[in-house]
Amino acid sequence: MTADTEAEVSEAQIAVHWKEEPLIEPPRSFVKQANVSDPSVFERFSEKNFPQCFEEYADLLSWDSRWHTVLDTGRPPFWKWFVGGKLNASYNAVDRHLPKHRNKAALIWVPESEDEAAQAVTYQELYNRVNEFALVLKEFAGLNAGDRVTFHLPMVPELPISMLAAARLGIIHNQVFGGFSARACAERMEDSKSTVLVTIDGYYRNGGLIDKKKEADVTVEEAEKLGIEVEKVLVWRRHPGKYISRSPMVEGRDFFVDEVARPFRGRTIAPTSMDAEAPLFLMYTSGSTGKPKGIQHRTGGYLAYVAGTTKFVQDLRPEDVYWCFADIGWITGHSYIVYGPLTNAATSVMYEGVPLYPDPGRPWRIAERLGVNIFHTAPTTIRMLRKAGPDEPSKYHYRFKAMTTVGEPIEPEAWRWYYEVVGKKEAVITDTWWQTETGGFLCSTMPALAPMKPGSAGPGMPGIYPVIYDENGAEVPPGQNRAGNICIRNPWPGIMQTIWGDPDRFVSVYYSKYNRDGQSKDWHDWPYFAGDGAVQAADGYFRIVGRVDDVIKVAGHRLGTKEIENAVLTTPEVAEAAAIAMEDELRGHVPVVYVALKPGSALMKGLEDVIKGNVVRELGPIARPRFVYVVPDLPKTRSGKIMRRVLASISDRKDYGDVTTLANPDVVETIRKQVQAT
Ligand code: WT7
Repeated sequence: MTADTEAEVSEAQIAVHWKEEPLIEPPRSFVKQANVSDPSVFERFSEKNFPQCFEEYADLLSWDSRWHTVLDTGRPPFWKWFVGGKLNASYNAVDRHLPKHRNKAALIWVPESEDEAAQAVTYQELYNRVNEFALVLKEFAGLNAGDRVTFHLPMVPELPISMLAAARLGIIHNQVFGGFSARACAERMEDSKSTVLVTIDGYYRNGGLIDKKKEADVTVEEAEKLGIEVEKVLVWRRHPGKYISRSPMVEGRDFFVDEVARPFRGRTIAPTSMDAEAPLFLMYTSGSTGKPKGIQHRTGGYLAYVAGTTKFVQDLRPEDVYWCFADIGWITGHSYIVYGPLTNAATSVMYEGVPLYPDPGRPWRIAERLGVNIFHTAPTTIRMLRKAGPDEPSKYHYRFKAMTTVGEPIEPEAWRWYYEVVGKKEAVITDTWWQTETGGFLCSTMPALAPMKPGSAGPGMPGIYPVIYDENGAEVPPGQNRAGNICIRNPWPGIMQTIWGDPDRFVSVYYSKYNRDGQSKDWHDWPYFAGDGAVQAADGYFRIVGRVDDVIKVAGHRLGTKEIENAVLTTPEVAEAAAIAMEDELRGHVPVVYVALKPGSALMKGLEDVIKGNVVRELGPIARPRFVYVVPDLPKTRSGKIMRRVLASISDRKDYGDVTTLANPDVVETIRKQVQAT
């Protein structure tokens, strides 16, 4: 065993010391009205009723034909859900609500500028717009069921409209987060073999205009370098009829959606009845290698899972106004801004801009003005709002009944502010732990049935049976104050189907670690490895302590250290690079990069900024390193692995522990002095 693997073992098994937080009962006003207030839910979803229990979720949807098999385990771990069933996701999110909710707002879109009025898109109007754009995708762009289409869109209503239009025809959508670079978008187009790009001319962020079409030009160029010819760029206009980008439209390649949609105005196209197992969308996410993984989600199981968990945990009821303050470019937005709320016929609020624009009262003004009563966001946003305007929520007269936190662990301090000041002690909080790969929530309290515990996600969701294993596959029982790898023992309908184009990677990343028998067709032998360290308290609540792989979370966004390092290595002077996550009061973590230069490369002035610029160009502004340190050498094990953990300890000004077994122990102290002197 090398020193490095020893370090990994102890990382996952460290004794964890934290103060056990007191439990807080959900507010009575919430419990009285909750969707799930009958504890029989735990019995209904207990292991003896698995997998049939999930029919309760599937029955929330409208199916064209019913499934014959709930779960097919014939080819583990490629589970199939609701086999034989047929349905359409767009029909379930839109069409079927028309008889009862035609004039109800499906989406309320809040532009960043307060001078621009909010736009309510009713279910009827959503239906019209989805149909028109579906016709553009089919008849103008020539796309058909099974083809991939890439979106690089910000938070505008055209994003859910584009998603639902694609889903209407079984076209697999691939939305790339707006804050990712053109290069990252091109890579995702190449990997998914997608030749149509849907973008927008521009949008507003932090008071400024972002030119998105200019970025699309770079995407096309970069895609070409990767061997993908982008045939069409469909450009929505932020203000239809008025072009706000500086980039010229390329004849025969670039088209304004408002123009090409004209012939389809008022026309409809029937939703295509899709197999439950047909892919619905791809969502690329970072893993421990440099290449992002195209997480492939299925139609039936995914939709059933997000519909069910939205109803159970978000507690959506027809009269609610629900605001998930996240970006649709992430899985949170797909599941809990678009598909979950709309299948439940809810009103889903979306906001174009940043939390603090033009001042830290903005989110609370939005909540007050629109009557939002369910609020959902990430710890990084909560910390930011708390720091900039701790007293702002009390100035506004909104009333939340439920609030959610998602994406990274929340500190009990931030949790308490969320509960006491934002929620005014009237709102229940759910801390939902899950991942891009899992489609929907895995751990959370059932809001009316279990107390809250600040900083802990709670027990497994109904029908989800989590367990903590140590490195050798032995179960770490609850209440031992020991961290290990959190796994899910069973399949569930929201789990990804595979990694697009890379089934072997799917098996090896998520299942090989704890698989008991590669030939077994019994799901009990295939625990899902989530890649997170966690501790389970005696009462069964899980507390997530962070990633155990080379993934880092920056302000709740998931980035691969290898991706950042690859971007740094595009700098010719750099020989070796290590990216680490440094603790940050507001963003949770920020990337920091350590580099060693090639022999003979002198340290040139401004190299650090060049490196930062290269990371932004390759990956996008969210990956910008806070610091770049040029060091004499990177600390390595004798087998040559870079010790990122030692570097992270130095950045966090913590004890880096015993490094005597490293190949170059002396460099550690040199680096520490260099870093801590700045
Ligand atoms: C990683 C997944 C969950 C959808 C958005 C992020 C971390 C997520 C929590 C939570 C502690 C959390 C984990 C996980 N994470 N939710 N409630 N408490 N950590 O999806 O980008 O795929 O990231 O986010 O480390 O593995 P993602």
